[in-house]
Amino acid sequence: MIGSATGPRIGITGLGVHVPERVLTNDDLAQIVDTSDEWIVERTGIRERRIARDDEALTDIALPAARAALADAGAHGGEIDLVICATVTPDMMFPTSSALLADALGAREAAAYDLLAGCTGFMYALAQAYGMLASGLSRRALVVGGDVLSKILDWEDRSTLVLFGDGAGAVVMERIGEGGFLGFELGADGGGGMHLCYPGSGSRRFENPQSILKMNGREVFKFATRVMVSSARAVLAQCGKTVADVDVYVPHQANKRIIDYAVGKLGIPDERTVVNVDRYGNTSSGSIPLALADARDDGRLSEGALVLMTGMGAGLTWGSALIEWTPSRAAGR
Ligand code: ACO
Repeated sequence: MIGSATGPRIGITGLGVHVPERVLTNDDLAQIVDTSDEWIVERTGIRERRIARDDEALTDIALPAARAALADAGAHGGEIDLVICATVTPDMMFPTSSALLADALGAREAAAYDLLAGCTGFMYALAQAYGMLASGLSRRALVVGGDVLSKILDWEDRSTLVLFGDGAGAVVMERIGEGGFLGFELGADGGGGMHLCYPGSGSRRFENPQSILKMNGREVFKFATRVMVSSARAVLAQCGKTVADVDVYVPHQANKRIIDYAVGKLGIPDERTVVNVDRYGNTSSGSIPLALADARDDGRLSEGALVLMTGMGAGLTWGSALIEWTPSRAAGR
């Protein structure tokens, strides 16, 4: 699916993030499985990640992020009429995490649902909220992306354990005067879906059900390097932009090698690329909002900056969005 945003201008007017307090370093992981800081840094660029406590679930991490996003937008929960929560690790299948969040935020008039698109979930959710806002069905939406993958990892499998971390982010979206989203490109390839799967987590019966994430790292790596480039090029072309126009590139933070490959192929300078995989690992749906927040905090999200975001993940899925950044509402628009 591809399209440019020709209707009313829709932008991000508030952004908030939250990660659990507990830091797990590569050396900590080397106490659990046969690995080393050297291997993990060389193959992934990850140095540490945040891990939720036993009693922390997705909404415990997502709620502070959502509150921060609302404060940044100068809005309160009662002004939100749509909550989309992109996650593969909801508190439970139902009630949905989005409904729990809407309740906790006092968003009593809101439609609320969870969205499953692996690590691409946040990109899909942005596009969904865009559609609802542009059509006039929603006036102000809260889009949450977050995961606590530590809860579904195989803590004996070094090939997946070292890659992931927990974290969440949220944005408020609404109509704005100018700028905002320019276009989206989203896709899925279920044919490769079993390369990254969570067998036993749904209605399909397996002979030996194991509720843990399984991944064929090499196949996912090949897929990731391909779509990170093709999706970014597609959305840029759709919006009549080129790589040279991109001020800030926010790639999904899965692995520094994947980011380096995409940056090299696309020809985006390093200083325009946001990288925080070293501090958080792959936080799945939380990855892109966490990276956006870093770019904001280091001053790169200036007014009018052209921001390219690309995600990829389980499904297999991928998605890109192009947005002309506008300052948060609380910051004075
Ligand atoms: N520590 C030490 N050695 C390890 C570890 C580890 N943590 N993990 C694997 N190894 C070993 C392997 O056993 C293998 O040993 P062998 O040669 O004796 O068999 C060796 O290291 C090389 O393994 P490879 O799989 O070839 O390593 P590779 O360079 O491909 O890196 C990695 C593996 C990091 C998983 C890479 O394939 C990758 O990043 N893939 C993409 C993963 C990804 O992005 N997933 C998230 C998708 S988004 C979502 O929706 C969740």
